[in-house]
Amino acid sequence: MVELSLPRNSKIKQGKTHKAKAGTKNIRRYQVYRWDPDTGENPSVDTYEVDMDSCGPMVLDGLIKIKNEMDPTLTFRRSCREGVCGSCAMNIDGTNTLACTKDMGDIKGDVKVYPLPHMEVVKDLVPDLSKAYAQYASIQPWLQADTPAPDKERLQSPEERERLDGLWECILCFCCTTSCPSYWWNSDRYLGPAVLLQAYRWIADSRDERSGDRLDNLEDPFRLYRCHTIMNCTNTCPKSLNPAKAIAETKKLLVERR
Ligand code: SF4
Ligand code: SF4
Ligand code: FES
Repeated sequence: MVELSLPRNSKIKQGKTHKAKAGTKNIRRYQVYRWDPDTGENPSVDTYEVDMDSCGPMVLDGLIKIKNEMDPTLTFRRSCREGVCGSCAMNIDGTNTLACTKDMGDIKGDVKVYPLPHMEVVKDLVPDLSKAYAQYASIQPWLQADTPAPDKERLQSPEERERLDGLWECILCFCCTTSCPSYWWNSDRYLGPAVLLQAYRWIADSRDERSGDRLDNLEDPFRLYRCHTIMNCTNTCPKSLNPAKAIAETKKLLVERR
């Protein structure tokens, strides 16, 4: 039998416990992944006892309360608090989702919070998204057309506009990409569901005149075809989008044009 041992620095320690003030009656325990590259220490999971009588209902409310009142060193991204910026994507209760739209009431037991999986960690709950953004740039996510622009705007029929529904709503949170096993193992070459959904968003846009080039760019055993329709991406998307369908539509267009 093969015996595998994990590298020493991969082991997660039990971290500190931050107790609620004496007399606090309504406590919710958060277990939060912590890692600071400056200490040279292994990651740990810290426990925080959050006073729910003075906390909002979402997981992000608890994290902000922890940072403001219990431990200012806790590091995470957030901006809009409305599920539209994608900054607060993290792994909560075992699922990639947005902390600002995840209701603590939907979680049984302790609130367990980790960074998005299979990304390098910058600090605590902040993943390094540089590679994912470079992959996004590689699909040239902007409208490209040779036909001179009309005076005011490039028009679409209602039907042409409808084709973008389910695509334009993507907030690039990368919950889908970091839940995709194909991306975990081939992230250097496979673009992953978020970027592929965005690629299809431009292919499907009636105003764009580069769909041929865009399909050429994707016709590659790794960039597109590493998707094996496992569907984790669609199951986890916090905006209820369907990246797997966008990938399937792209594959269909490639077959049709042959
Ligand atoms: S498809 Fe959904 S999960 Fe993926 S990046 Fe867009 S919004 Fe996030
Ligand atoms: S359907 Fe494709 S992109 Fe989505 S999780 Fe599965 S392999 Fe990844
Ligand atoms: S803070 Fe913007 S999506 Fe959560």
